[in-house]
Amino acid sequence: MTNDVLDTINNRRSIREFLDKPVSDDILSQILEAGFRAPFAAQLCSVIYTRNREKMKNAGITVYPTVPVHMIFFIDLVRLEKIMTHRGHEYGYDDMMAIWLGMQDVVLMIENLTIAAESLGLGSVLYGLTPLRADSIAKTFNVPKRVFPVVGISIGYPDPAEETEIRPRIPLEMAAFEDEYRNHSDEDINICMKKMDTGFIAQGYYIKSRTKVELVDKEDTIGFDKYSWSEHISRKFRSAFRKGDPLLDILRRHGFDLK
Ligand SMILES: Cc1cc2nc3c(=O)[nH]c(=O)nc-3n(C[C@H](O)[C@H](O)[C@H](O)COP(=O)(O)O)c2cc1C
Repeated sequence: MTNDVLDTINNRRSIREFLDKPVSDDILSQILEAGFRAPFAAQLCSVIYTRNREKMKNAGITVYPTVPVHMIFFIDLVRLEKIMTHRGHEYGYDDMMAIWLGMQDVVLMIENLTIAAESLGLGSVLYGLTPLRADSIAKTFNVPKRVFPVVGISIGYPDPAEETEIRPRIPLEMAAFEDEYRNHSDEDINICMKKMDTGFIAQGYYIKSRTKVELVDKEDTIGFDKYSWSEHISRKFRSAFRKGDPLLDILRRHGFDLK
C-alpha cells in the first residue's frame, strides 16, 4: 500500500547541490508552519533562518556552496522562563531533562519541516556539528544564554544535474523489535554491516565525496574504493572528541546548569 505521504518519505534523500533559485517567503512560511505543527513536549524550540552567506560564514557554519537558505534549530529555555515569570513561577527544573525535552521538540519539528519541504519540491541536508559552533552562532545571530543550537539544515531546490541516490539503511529487523530487545549476534552485525557497506560502496558515496575520517593513531590501510559506512562511523566514534567532552563545556558556557 502506498500514498503521497509515504512516497515523499520513502523517496527522500539528502540534497547537497541546489539550483540558483530563491526560496520564496511564502514557501518558507509554509514549511516552517508545518514544522511547528509537530507534536511538542514543551515548545522548547526556536529557529533562526538566513539567506545571508556573510552571516553563515561569521557564525562558523560551513554549508554546501550552492545553499540558498540555512536554518538553525535551537533548544530555547528563555521563552519558557519568561512565560513562567509572567505566571509568577520560578524555574526549578533539571537542565539536563529540559535539554532532553527540547531535543525531542527540535527533532520532531525538523523532521516535519523536512518532509513538508520535500512535498513542495525542495530538498535539504542537516549538519550535526552545529552545536560546536554555539559561540559564533550566538554572537552572529544575537542568541542569548540558555538558547542552544541543536542542528542546522540547508534548504533549497535540488539541482537535477546532480545524481542523488537513496541511501541504504540497517535492515528493519535489526533495529525494530517487538516486545524484546534483540541482542545482536556476530551474524546479525555482519548482516547490518553488509547491507550498509555494499550499498554505500556500490553508490561510490565516499569516492565521490572524498570523505574519509583520518586516523591519528593507526595506519590507514583502506583506500577510498574499500572505505565503507561501517568503517566511517567506527572511525568517527573512535577518535573524535577523545580528549574530553567539549559539548558539555560549551553548554555550561551558554548558561546551562549541568553537573
Ligand atoms: C543529525 C544529522 C546530522 C547530519 N550531519 C550532516 C553533515 O554535517 N553533513 C552532511 O553532509 N550530511 C549530514 N547529515 C546527512 C546524513 O549524512 C544523511 O542523512 C545520511 O547519510 C543518510 O542519507 P540520506 O539522508 O540521503 O538518506 C546529517 C544527518 C543527520 C540526521
